[in-house]
Amino acid sequence: MTIDTFHCSMCGRRIKVQNRSDLPIFDPNTGFGICKSCVKNIYHWIEDEDAKRGKTSKKGFYATLGNLLEKNKPHVIKAYLDEFIIMQERAKKILSVAAYNHYKRMKYELDNRGSEDEIEKSNVIILGPTGCGKTAMLSHLSKLLDIPFAVTDASSLTEAGFVGSDVEVAVRNLYYAAGKDIEKTEHGIIYLDEFDKIARKSGENNSITADPGHEGVQQGLLKMLEGSFVEFTERGQRKHPEAPTIKVNTKNILFIVGGAFVGIEKIVEQRVKKGDAAIGFGSEVPSKEDTDKKFNELIHQVRPEDLMKYGIIPEIIGRLPVICTLETLDEDALLRILTEPKNAPVKQYEKLLAMDNVKLEFEEAALRAVAKMAIERKTGARSLKGIIEDVMLEVMFDIPKTNEPRRVVITEACIKGEEQPQIFPLDEINLSKETA
Ligand SMILES: Nc1ncnc2c1ncn2[C@@H]1O[C@H](COP(=O)(O)OP(=O)(O)O)[C@@H](O)[C@H]1O
Ligand SMILES: [Mg+2]
Repeated sequence: MTIDTFHCSMCGRRIKVQNRSDLPIFDPNTGFGICKSCVKNIYHWIEDEDAKRGKTSKKGFYATLGNLLEKNKPHVIKAYLDEFIIMQERAKKILSVAAYNHYKRMKYELDNRGSEDEIEKSNVIILGPTGCGKTAMLSHLSKLLDIPFAVTDASSLTEAGFVGSDVEVAVRNLYYAAGKDIEKTEHGIIYLDEFDKIARKSGENNSITADPGHEGVQQGLLKMLEGSFVEFTERGQRKHPEAPTIKVNTKNILFIVGGAFVGIEKIVEQRVKKGDAAIGFGSEVPSKEDTDKKFNELIHQVRPEDLMKYGIIPEIIGRLPVICTLETLDEDALLRILTEPKNAPVKQYEKLLAMDNVKLEFEEAALRAVAKMAIERKTGARSLKGIIEDVMLEVMFDIPKTNEPRRVVITEACIKGEEQPQIFPLDEINLSKETA
């Protein structure tokens, strides 16, 4: 631009043009130009109009942040998680704080727009055995938060060029969760489930054979974790040079990764044993409680070097500063999971049968038998619902045949497969219960 003074075509004011931004809109062919102040006015006008129509614009998003912070204090988030998740107190606290801090960082960034000053994000890694509540916890968290949240299964990711999904899929899922709003996407949370499945095979047992596939996925993820522009096409569109792409900056996206990391406690044990802080439980055959206790003690001591040994590249571990560990659920915990959470399996079946005019009752011993069975299956809380479903099949088939009020009692023998659940008229006393 060669001119140094100019008359704005809108307001007519004479402006000194020192740099490009003084005259943001200018057409050298016609000499038409709009000054910065007029552009600002137009922008605000559009924002106000959008706000009137209830659209959330940048200003709207910013304006709601203060509100969101106020609404999503850690103790409030944790109280919500408590309604669904039994035990895992520390993990619930860590996630509540992580989500709250994520809001705070966003507010700080917007309050200090344009400055270099920023608060770094703290991505989280969650470890815990199968069926202890990792995925459940994150999916409940996602329902509560007013920021976009997407879960992607890391085990489905492959290195670019291989059959399967590229790492960009994780960002694309978030983009859809954000209603295709790029700014919202850039401030969302990505949960990568089954993260342990992309560990380098050569990690733990350390054969020298490399595992390029998984290492490639990790390298791809690393770029996202470090913050970079990720480009992807709309869903269903094949990647080809002309396909329009969407570009998202991952710098402010919070990443939470989780997995069972089967066997990591052995790595911790090896490390701990080398030091003098060995954990001893005697040398006799340990009981189930002892094994659980030992596992829980070990898993809470996981350190970055253990993850490295497991096969996660150190650069990624460096980007996951918060390590969050979940413990094994014992019989008492499983018993509580059956009945206490808002969506507890027992409550769900009660509601289902109530729709057919049937009152469902579980004997205490029956519930304990379910918990015991789940322990034997070694899949944490995962098998609870399936066990009940099996037992209930026949009655759920028979009940809808009539519509009169009835009750069904599930006994310990039912759970053990020794008898079928009985259907009683509502007012008839359950004899087996009275005589027991
Ligand atoms: N601590 C827990 N409290 C309540 N329900 C749980 C808990 N752990 C697991 N569950 C239930 O068990 C099932 C499997 O849990 P999930 O979160 O998928 O396990 P994982 O840790 O393997 O991701 C879910 O339906 C979930 O509701
Ligand atoms: Mg899971």
